[in-house]
Amino acid sequence: MNDVYILAIESSCDETSCSIVKNGCEDISTVVLSQIDIHKLYGGVVPEIASRMHIEVITKVIEEALFKSALTMSDIDAIAVTYAPGLLGSLLVGVTAAKTLAYVYNKPLIPVHHIAGHIYANNLVETMEFPLIALVVSGGHTELVYMKSDYDFKVIGSTLDDAVGEVYDKVARVLALPYPGGPKVDALARLGEDTYALPLPLDDSSYNFSFSGLKSAVINLKHKEEQRGNEIIKENLAASFQNRVIEIITKKTMHALKEYHCQNLIVAGGVAANRELREKLKELCLKERVTLKIPDLKYCTDNATMIGAAGYYAYKMGYHADLDLNAKANEVLK
Ligand code: KG4
Ligand code: ZN
Repeated sequence: MNDVYILAIESSCDETSCSIVKNGCEDISTVVLSQIDIHKLYGGVVPEIASRMHIEVITKVIEEALFKSALTMSDIDAIAVTYAPGLLGSLLVGVTAAKTLAYVYNKPLIPVHHIAGHIYANNLVETMEFPLIALVVSGGHTELVYMKSDYDFKVIGSTLDDAVGEVYDKVARVLALPYPGGPKVDALARLGEDTYALPLPLDDSSYNFSFSGLKSAVINLKHKEEQRGNEIIKENLAASFQNRVIEIITKKTMHALKEYHCQNLIVAGGVAANRELREKLKELCLKERVTLKIPDLKYCTDNATMIGAAGYYAYKMGYHADLDLNAKANEVLK
C-alpha cells in the first residue's frame, strides 16, 4: 500500500499546531506554538485571547510544518483537523484553516475528535494492542475509554464536573502557585506527607469522576486553618490532595481493566506527566500483568501529531467531512 501523508491541525485550546504524519505513526514534522506565557498573566486560559492568537499564527505554523517536512501540498493525501471538543473560537480557527486547504488543494477533510487524538498519540511510540482501556487525563478531560479495535471508542466514564488537570490548576492557585499549576503541585507533593484528612472523591462503582468536592475540601481546610491561626503546610496539603486524586483514578482504571477483560492500558493527556500517577500505574500494572503504555511527554500535551495519528485511521475508515464541517465545543467521543 502507498504511504499516506496527513497534514493535521490542532487549535482546540491554547496551542496552535500543525504536523505532517506518515502512515499514522511517523512524525515527519511538527510545529507547536504555545500561548502559555500570555495566559499565565491571567491565571488561566482566556478564550477570547486564545482564538485571536490562533488567527495570528495559524498560517505561519502550517507553512513552517510543511517547510520542515520538505514536502509540498501535492504530497499530502488528506487534511485532518480537531473539530471538537474545546474552546469554540479556538476550534473554529483550525477548522476554517483545514477547510480552506481542503478546498483549495482538493483534498479529503478528516474530522478528528480531540480525545481520539490523545489516545492515538500512543501509536507514535508503538502500535496499540486491543482490547484496551485508555485513561485520558488533561486540563480539559478526564475519561476512561474502552476500545475493542481501531477507531472503536466506548466512553465508559468521565468527569461530572472539573477535569483532573483543571482541579490541579485550581488547587495550585489556592497554594499561590502560578499557572499551569499541575506540575508545581506534583513537585510540591513529593516533598510532603499525606497528613490532611481529605475525602476520596466519588468513590463508587461507576467509572465517573468528580473533583469539585475535593477542590472545595482543600479550600475549606485552608480557610479553617487560617482562621485558627495555623499555618498550612503546603507540601503536606499538596501530597494529601495528590494522593486522593491518584487513588481514585488508579482504582477506577484498574477496575475497568478487570471488568472489560483488558490486558492493555494506555494513558494520555497532559496529566500523564504526573510522576506519582505514572509510578502508581506502573506498580499496579506489573502486579496485574497489564501492559502499560504512556506516550512521550511531548505527545501527551496538545499537539497536531496526535491528530495526524488518529486522522490516518479515520481516513482509512472513510470518515470524511464536507466543507460545511463545523466546530463543536462539546461532543462525546464515539
Ligand atoms: O493535555 P494538556 O496539555 O492540555 C489540555 O488538553 O488540557 O494538559 C494540561 C494540563 C494542565 O491542567 C496541567 O496543570 C496538567 O495538565 N499537568 C499536570 C502535570 N503536568 C501537566 N497535572 C498534574 N501533574 C503534572 N505533573
Ligand atoms: Zn488535550
